[in-house]
Amino acid sequence: MKKASMISIGAYVPKEILTNSDLEKMVDTNDEWIAQRTGIKTRHIAKNESTSDLGYQASKIAIKRAGLKNEDIDCIICATISPDHLCMPSTACKISNLLGIKNITAFDISAACTGFIYLLELAKSLIESGVKKNILIIGTEKLSSIVNWKDRTTCILFGDGAGAAVISARDDNSILDVHTASDGEYADLLTTPGCGSIHPATHEMVDQNLQFIHMKGNEVFKVAVNTLTKDVIDILEKNEISPKEIDLFIPHQANLRIINSVKQKLKLTDEQCIVTVQKYGNTSSASIPMAINDAYESGRLKKGDLMLLDAFGGGFTWGSALLKFGGI
Ligand code: UT7
Repeated sequence: MKKASMISIGAYVPKEILTNSDLEKMVDTNDEWIAQRTGIKTRHIAKNESTSDLGYQASKIAIKRAGLKNEDIDCIICATISPDHLCMPSTACKISNLLGIKNITAFDISAACTGFIYLLELAKSLIESGVKKNILIIGTEKLSSIVNWKDRTTCILFGDGAGAAVISARDDNSILDVHTASDGEYADLLTTPGCGSIHPATHEMVDQNLQFIHMKGNEVFKVAVNTLTKDVIDILEKNEISPKEIDLFIPHQANLRIINSVKQKLKLTDEQCIVTVQKYGNTSSASIPMAINDAYESGRLKKGDLMLLDAFGGGFTWGSALLKFGGI
């Protein structure tokens, strides 16, 4: 039986950079606080580009690096919490149109910052069951469009960007295992309360800023550290892989302190760990594919390398993945 393999990666960030000192002029914050508490120094902000525009740029790179033509893609799945449109059409359909691909399966999923791990599980299942051959998975976000730029507790955290990968049927370098999970009990700790069926679009809803991201940061932090640590230990034990065997640990890039905590628990070295949060901030579903792309473009990720991924986000959702890189 053929296995699902990540045969390429691509990413894109909009040109404009917002620094911590820029934010000092917008809200009551400072570079020292942001850097110490989060590790973030800069983030990219999209002005005239939409979420699908960002995803399209990343997708073009991923398809080219896979050595495929656009028409070889038979499924597009996009993870995003900042879609072009709230309900329809899906951002995947918009990207499909930009790529000039018609008559294929295209849909979005909503799993917040864990979106890319959920995409890997879906793509693995669809490939290994023989339903699809070449799946384009995309994490793309224009979080600047759902951030309250007057709320210092959230606006310093997020950035815009996109990452995409092609998952295809191969004999080796496969996605070894994916674990995904959720707990809706924590829904209110990280949420965009407005614009849905509970708080439809009204002037009153907008006056209360319910359309923006609301987060109880320190409560999310505690659950994230404990949950991620357990999740990565579990997936390594289940697959009888020791942390030393991991070539690259590529975690969701929300907070350097969360990344370092998991890294220390696993006794991973700096060489094993990919960190991009300092330059991109938290780009939710895009953060892992953007970080994989950084590792690829800097020459740290090579064909056959074993990656450990982990992510945690709104829902709550979380997950981890073990995969060998199948790209060249
Ligand atoms: O990606 C999805 C999952 N998300 C996460 O994993 C994010 C998890 N949470 C975090 O990364 C951290 O909780 C934050 C970076 C959001 C916040 O860091 P913290 O160490 O948990 O700070 P805190 O919320 O406990 O706030 C500490 C203090 C407060 O002041 P008081 O009450 O101690 O006087 C805040 O008002 O820092 C204050 N504060 C700020 N000060 C300067 C909050 N935001 C800022 C700010 N600048 N931007």
